[in-house]
Formats: sequence, structure tokens, C-alpha cells
Amino acid sequence: MKRILSGIQPTGSINIGTYLGSVKNFVKLQDQMPDYEFFIFIADLHAITVHKDKQFLRTKIKELAALYVACGLDPEKVNLFIQSEVPAHSQMAYLLQCNSYIGELERMTQYKDKSRKQETGVTVGLFTYPTLMAGDILLYDPEYVPVGKDQKQHLELARDIATRVNNKYNDIFTVPKPLIAEVGAKINSLSDPTSKMSKSDDNEKSRINLLDPENIIKKRIKSAITDSLGNVKYDPENRPGISNLMTIYHVITNIPFESIESKYEGLGYKEFKEDLGEIIYQELKPIQERYAELINSKELDDILDKGRDRANQVAYKKIMKLNDRIGLGRKRRK
Ligand code: AMP
Ligand code: TRP
Repeated sequence: MKRILSGIQPTGSINIGTYLGSVKNFVKLQDQMPDYEFFIFIADLHAITVHKDKQFLRTKIKELAALYVACGLDPEKVNLFIQSEVPAHSQMAYLLQCNSYIGELERMTQYKDKSRKQETGVTVGLFTYPTLMAGDILLYDPEYVPVGKDQKQHLELARDIATRVNNKYNDIFTVPKPLIAEVGAKINSLSDPTSKMSKSDDNEKSRINLLDPENIIKKRIKSAITDSLGNVKYDPENRPGISNLMTIYHVITNIPFESIESKYEGLGYKEFKEDLGEIIYQELKPIQERYAELINSKELDDILDKGRDRANQVAYKKIMKLNDRIGLGRKRRK
């Protein structure tokens, strides 16, 4: 069976950027592509490239798992698991590090940005992160990897590494293709609409988290940066603020941009923002209700156990096969 795989880091709280750019897309795909086996995981190993408090990390891992299911991931269709519970991920990262070059990792924009911001104490893990990510993917031979635009470069690296290892060790990996949603692939910050809405932004006003209560959701939209032109028009180049809000509106309701424009013609931002706040609240309400049922339930643990067992089965086989091709350990008796 062909496969699809993706992961999200359990850092910070999931916001509507991650939801609209990524999770909502998984939910659509699981229904549209019934011929594929899905693997979706919580990338907790990726979260520790920068130090995290133990309790914080534990809470976020569980929260993310519950949110995935609350957002509509169907455990009957998707293997949902936690990365660190499948040891092959760490093993594969090392094997791939021995097939990657310092120069290519140095070129990764995310690494350059993050290490520049951090100045001291940049870990080796932050540097090798793309090889861990490549391993996450290549272990499962997925045909497609749905990601947001910001992960495209890491995915291209995973493809390069896969091709290189295939040439060296006789076609062991499927070379994965990215699956990038056309619209909604990037939701920007509410306080700085030229940069991505991010879990790690210090400014809380920059985002709406999936578990935010109604009053916060509406307040954040009300205070979102727009411009002084005052008419609702989609023009991402020149008017990033209002265009970003329109993107959120469009991705949730499926209403085309032109129809949104005509709906608010002659009206100011106030009416548009009031409606958008309500639209987001109505979208998040059922997710929050389902989350509350799941978060401390045995149901959630059972889902994660099942996902882990299936993932281990596939990933362990792959590691053993690669070890064998490389010549590690002893030759296996057939
Ligand atoms: P992250 O939240 O950075 O771990 O990203 C998880 C997934 O969500 C990745 O595929 C990202 O590309 C996507 N993502 C994160 N933030 C946004 C955003 N503001 N807009 C669209 N996609 C996003
Ligand atoms: N690095 C990704 C992010 O920050 C998360 C991730 C880790 C991932 N491993 C992956 C995404 C494998 C897709 C496939 O968003």
C-alpha cells in the first residue's frame, strides 16, 4: 500500500496557522486518499534541539495528540504516534548523517535563521535537525509528504539524501514528493503580516491558538494589523494584513476571495473582523469540546499505542535492511 507521512513539533500551542496550513489538510487527505496508509506523528525529538522543561514537553506532546484527533484525524485511517516511542527515528538520523554533508546542512534557511537569533548555545541537534527529519520520512517510504511552504527546503534535502543513499546502497528508499496546499499554505502573523504565524513568536497577539477561548479569539482579530485603506481587498503584495485575514476567512469557509470582497463592499474592517472572529470561533468550538473529552482519556492512549506499534513494525524493518546493506553488525541468516 502506498503511504503518506507528516509530523508536527510539540512546541508551543498549535495555532490556526498550523491548523489551517497543515492539520486541516491531513484531515482532507485522509478522506480523499483512501488507498494510502497514513502516518502522522508528534515530532518530540525535534522539539529538544532547544532546551525544554520536562513538564512543559510532556504536556505539549499529549496536547498535540489530543488536538490531532479533535481536529478530525481518524485513528481508523491514520497511524498516529509519538516519534520518540519509535527508536528507529534516532537510529536512522545517525545513518543519514553519515550520508549528508556539512555544507548542505549549513545552507538550510531555518538553521541559519534560528542559529542567528540564538547567538550562543546552538546545539548540534539544531544543525542536524534536517537529517532527523529526512529519517522520519525515509523510514516509511511515503510517496507524499504534506507540509507547509517553510518545510519545502528540508523536504528537498530529504530527497537528495534518499537519492544519494539509493545510489550507494541499491535503491532502498522511495524518493518522497512534497504535497503543499495551494492556499492557506501560509498563514501570517496577526501583528506582523509579512512573517509566518508562529508558535514561537514572543508576541501572543500574533496568533490565535486552537484552545483559546471565545473572547481571546475575537480580541486577537480585532487588534490584527491591517492598513489605513479601510476596504476589504485581496492584494497580498501591497496589503499583507487584510489579505492574510481574508486567507483565513477563505480557508475556513471556502468562499472565494472575490465573493468576500463583494460581501464587504462599502463596509469597513470592523464588520469584516467581527464576522471573521465569529467564523474562527465556530470552527474551533467543536474542536475544543472534543479535546476536553480526549485529553485525559484511555481512548487517546489506546490510539497512540496502536500507532506506535504499527510504526515500529515498519520502521524497525527498514533500519535492519539498511544496516544490512551498509554492512553493519553480522550478516543476517536468510
Ligand atoms: P510547526 O508548527 O512549525 O511545527 O509546523 C507544523 C506544520 O504546520 C508544518 O508543515 C508547517 O509548515 C505548518 N505551519 C506552521 N505554521 C504555519 C503557518 N503560519 N501557516 C501555514 N502553515 C504553517
Ligand atoms: N520539521 C517539521 C516542522 O517543523 C516537522 C517534521 C518533523 C516533519 N519531521 C517531519 C514534517 C517529517 C514532515 C515530515 O514543521
